[in-house]
Amino acid sequence: MSGFRRSREALVDATITVDGEPVAAVEGESVASALIAAGRAGFAVSGKTGHRLAPYCLIGACFGCLCEIDGRPQVQACLEPVRSGMVVRTRNPEPPHDR
Ligand code: FES
Repeated sequence: MSGFRRSREALVDATITVDGEPVAAVEGESVASALIAAGRAGFAVSGKTGHRLAPYCLIGACFGCLCEIDGRPQVQACLEPVRSGMVVRTRNPEPPHDR
């Protein structure tokens, strides 16, 4: 289980597909926030070291959140608002160990 969880589950009103699995989200929150809330914080991988990365800044500065969204590669998930039905492919599709 991740150390993060939603404070208000009642706000969840969208579903996105992440690496082929449905993930509950809130319309308009960032994709990075949705993934963190779903216990998938380590969803990116360093192209240099191969190590798992997690969103760090959440303001578009660190690139620790790159993933493919609706077929667009290298999207900063922290800057992309959730829209129900969107399809996300992470660079680390292995489930995190803490789920
Ligand atoms: S979390 Fe830093 S750029 Fe997205």
